[in-house]
Amino acid sequence: MKYKKKKIKLTKFGKIFFSLIGIFIISIFMLSINSFKHRFYKVEESDKYLIEINYPQVKNKSIIAYSKEYIKNMENDFKNNIEGITDLNSAKYEFKTDYEITENEDMLGVHLIIYEYTGGAHYIRHDKSYYYEKDEEKVVSITDFLEDEKSLDKLANISYYYVMKYSDENDLNFDEKMVKSGLECDPKNFEHFNFIDAGLEIIFPPLQVACHAAGEIKILIPYNELEGIIKSKYLNYNKSEDEHVNNTRNLKEFSNKKLIAFTFDDGPSYIATNKLLDNLDRYNARVTFFVLGSRVNDYNVTLKRAYDMGNLIGSHTYSHVDLTTLNNFNVMEEIKKTNDAIKEVTNSDTLYLRPPYGNTDSEIRNLANMYNILWDLDTEDWKYKDPERIANYIVENAHDGAIVLLHDLYETSVDGALLAMERLEKEGYAFVTIEEMAIIKNIDLEKDKNYYQIQ
Ligand code: NI
Repeated sequence: MKYKKKKIKLTKFGKIFFSLIGIFIISIFMLSINSFKHRFYKVEESDKYLIEINYPQVKNKSIIAYSKEYIKNMENDFKNNIEGITDLNSAKYEFKTDYEITENEDMLGVHLIIYEYTGGAHYIRHDKSYYYEKDEEKVVSITDFLEDEKSLDKLANISYYYVMKYSDENDLNFDEKMVKSGLECDPKNFEHFNFIDAGLEIIFPPLQVACHAAGEIKILIPYNELEGIIKSKYLNYNKSEDEHVNNTRNLKEFSNKKLIAFTFDDGPSYIATNKLLDNLDRYNARVTFFVLGSRVNDYNVTLKRAYDMGNLIGSHTYSHVDLTTLNNFNVMEEIKKTNDAIKEVTNSDTLYLRPPYGNTDSEIRNLANMYNILWDLDTEDWKYKDPERIANYIVENAHDGAIVLLHDLYETSVDGALLAMERLEKEGYAFVTIEEMAIIKNIDLEKDKNYYQIQ
């Protein structure tokens, strides 16, 4: 079946009528574009200069006002700067702006980039970021997101690690001195950032941490590494779901007991670690393992078993190196590789560190951003592989709050520990992890201290 096309013939009056409507619609459209342009775009040109301003297109009035004021001040500075210049060269001076917007549930962020040409071979780039905090309904900056006065220093350390890693991974050979000076503890150095799903993204404009050719450097810091650095309400991530599921002991039953923390370094191992785990319930004991990151994968089943039973898993670094002999990047690498390996197995972040040989200093503590657990009872179990001797030493030196150093590489160490538990139990001792000990004693551990005992 065919449709017949109907041709509509317009009268002369109809043609005029429709044309008028058309013109009307187009003019309304043009007007609205014009006012839109007027609101967000400005061009100004003279013999001497060209100004092109692209205002951030957002709905939020505070952000618009803040942006306009900031740009206005920069524009005035630009005009003042070129006013004095009488030597007109062929190229016009320029002032141009561009921007990026990020937005999530909690905040709206604007990253403004201003390019100025005031002679010479290059544009000058200025970066400026600011954020609108939706809860508090105000414009804020990086310092408003930081937990306390030490946070910026810690953020600088983590950033240093990720910038150097970026350099390594991209074969860029960043100059370490330049990176460090670009990351000095100054809020201005950490002004440009975005809270995205995967973590905190920080942007370093060209020339801040690397040469111009490297361009803008972006790093991404996972939220779990920003605990205690960025205020927790901005750490928008699901903490390990079973973070404390493993710690279901009722600690009240220990409140009247003397407490002692058995800690085992250098493992896990198959025979010794599992022998210990097999016997802990006999003494209602839980212990702390400071594991080597390099062993975690090989003994992941044993480690998972230890964790699931409610023992505390801490880090003894990746390769058992004396941290005080390493540069900052390698210190961070030893720490992070181990923490990542542990998390892979336990799905939980570890906050406890035992530096190899007990060697650490304030800079390393700051880089690690963990609780530093040393010991006060050194059994020397690696030297004297004699359970009786190990047990005697522990029992003779035991006191409330003590931290005992052992190694779950040797069965003799495990036997000695179990023997000591059997005897100490009769003296009213309970065997707890470092974390449990701090909770029972109501002590808030601090990250910039070494703990030899907990009391
Ligand atoms: Ni060790």
